[in-house]
Amino acid sequence: MKTPIIAINMKTYEQSCGEAGINLASLCQEIAEETGANIAIAPQQTDLALFSIDLDIPIFAQHIDNAKQGSSTGRITPENIWTIGCAGSLINHSEYRIEAEDVRVLVQKCRNLALTSIVCTKDAVESRAYAEFKPDFIAVEPPELIGGDISVTSAKPEVVSDSVKEVKEVAPDVKVLCGAGVKNGQDVKMAIELGAEGVLLASGVVKADDQRAVLLDLVSEL
Ligand code: G3P
Repeated sequence: MKTPIIAINMKTYEQSCGEAGINLASLCQEIAEETGANIAIAPQQTDLALFSIDLDIPIFAQHIDNAKQGSSTGRITPENIWTIGCAGSLINHSEYRIEAEDVRVLVQKCRNLALTSIVCTKDAVESRAYAEFKPDFIAVEPPELIGGDISVTSAKPEVVSDSVKEVKEVAPDVKVLCGAGVKNGQDVKMAIELGAEGVLLASGVVKADDQRAVLLDLVSEL
């Protein structure tokens, strides 16, 4: 996965559901092509197969289950998302936390399938702990800032820089993203200055009146 990267988690917002989701995903692809920026998206789980067939930008699942392939009703396995051509998955997002052992196993399963793993963490301590599992990315997001108006890069810059330090100490190849409240190019610039290799964001793009303008601003500081 090329970096620096803007990764957009579409969550389950109405502004990224159904046709609106298709429009936003197409817009992300258009802007990636126009600007050469690395943009990845994590569509709503119901859109994963559609988007991974139709789009060239990296498509991530928002969550995968540590479940066996076969008799696991209602689960989404790493093998499932590999089969439909996804690039990888978020793991342990703040809104879908899982046990540490499941994080470890899912990172391993992703590695075996050449899927990119993005493990979400809440702070620098957890970033270090999960870096030990050697995911491709750690994405640190203080839960209390998620969905808010103040970016982690302004409200808690030390969470980003400390995560980078802790992660690099135990696993120098693991890349760090940051998220929560990220809204504009200035936030991206600060994230990179703090040592991150990109951002993971949702509401800043999904809920924007002018999604194109926000995306162009975000990629302008990569
Ligand atoms: O996964 C990204 C996310 O949790 C951050 O959300 O809305 O603060 O950009 P938001």
